[in-house]
Amino acid sequence: MKPVHKLETDDVLAKHVFDADGRVLLRAGVKLTPGYIRSLKSMGFVYVYVQDDETYDIVIEETVRAEVQQEVVMKVKHTFDRIAASRHSASVAAVRHSIIRADSSLEGADLDDADFAARDAGDGLLPGLADVGEQFADLFKLLLDELMGDQTFIVNLTAIYSSDAYLYTHSMNVGILAAALGMARGFDERRIRKFGVGAMLHDIGKLLIDPDILNKPGRLSAEERLEIERHCELGYQILRRQPDISILSAHCALQHHEKFDGTGYPRKLKGEEIHEFGRLLAVPDVYDALVTNRVYRRAFLPHEAVAYLVKEAGSHFDPAVVDLFLKHVNIYPNGTPVALSDGTSGVVARANPDNLQRPVVLVLAAAGGKVQPYEVNLAQASDLEIAWVGLSDDE
Ligand SMILES: [Fe+2]
Repeated sequence: MKPVHKLETDDVLAKHVFDADGRVLLRAGVKLTPGYIRSLKSMGFVYVYVQDDETYDIVIEETVRAEVQQEVVMKVKHTFDRIAASRHSASVAAVRHSIIRADSSLEGADLDDADFAARDAGDGLLPGLADVGEQFADLFKLLLDELMGDQTFIVNLTAIYSSDAYLYTHSMNVGILAAALGMARGFDERRIRKFGVGAMLHDIGKLLIDPDILNKPGRLSAEERLEIERHCELGYQILRRQPDISILSAHCALQHHEKFDGTGYPRKLKGEEIHEFGRLLAVPDVYDALVTNRVYRRAFLPHEAVAYLVKEAGSHFDPAVVDLFLKHVNIYPNGTPVALSDGTSGVVARANPDNLQRPVVLVLAAAGGKVQPYEVNLAQASDLEIAWVGLSDDE
């Protein structure tokens, strides 16, 4: 696995590269040209798998098989595109107006118009989309079946998708992490499913916001920021009226931007005023956003994202949830190429169950040359840090 910014002409792809529709963009075996490398960069890929002397034979452990991920992303995209197409429908417009009215008048949201339109449509607020709840229950089940039976939840969220697939991969990744956290929290299966469906649909309101505002590069005006922040309320009002979606799942949309210290939105709830689902969801939502390449910044490395979670525990996040994430989510699957702070590099050999952030690393190279492989247990080598994930970075 190699970071895209380190690719060189004539590197050979070891795995297919896909777009969000599941179409193969570049096949395994292709020799990369400068043009291909430029395209991969401009499309926002972070890593690709290349044939490599040292790591070519090493298979990175996957909790959710690549073909299942592929299927989920494709189906999420299909449904999200249909939802986005209903952006201009009368029922969605009515919900939006009622939210804007509530914002400006500080009165409670008056949703009579929306309810009326929904009743006319006969299938919730999304015309022709009465099956969204059922579909996402099925999609989440696909992910959950893959995770069941694992003791620690190895999560390989390496961005092998282009960044224009962000909304779809984010839905899947947050769904996977929600399943892991729900299981770690001891939820029964019914509760995990409610949480998982809510997690996959938490940003559904964004699909109904003007893409020109949502994707605007540069500074947002106060009004534009407010419009984007409305995605929580918009998503909630729609989900709570959809058939086959629990009111608790709808709360994932409403509360995922609330912060533990009361500085979040839309309602500035504090501590346990925020529903457990909202407190749980904030952590994987931010983690996945950080480790993904966005138009305005490069992706964080997994340990940088973890450091952010730790720094924000108690202010942005419920500290108990950050703790749960650190104890149960393994961000370094076996086989992950890593470079260490002493200039050596190798691959993750196995996790330390008591310290998932500091795995055992099989060192394969030092100072650019191969060495006789040996293991370093980072749990017992406090002077060493993981300096890079991917192949060694000398920038
Ligand atoms: Fe959001």
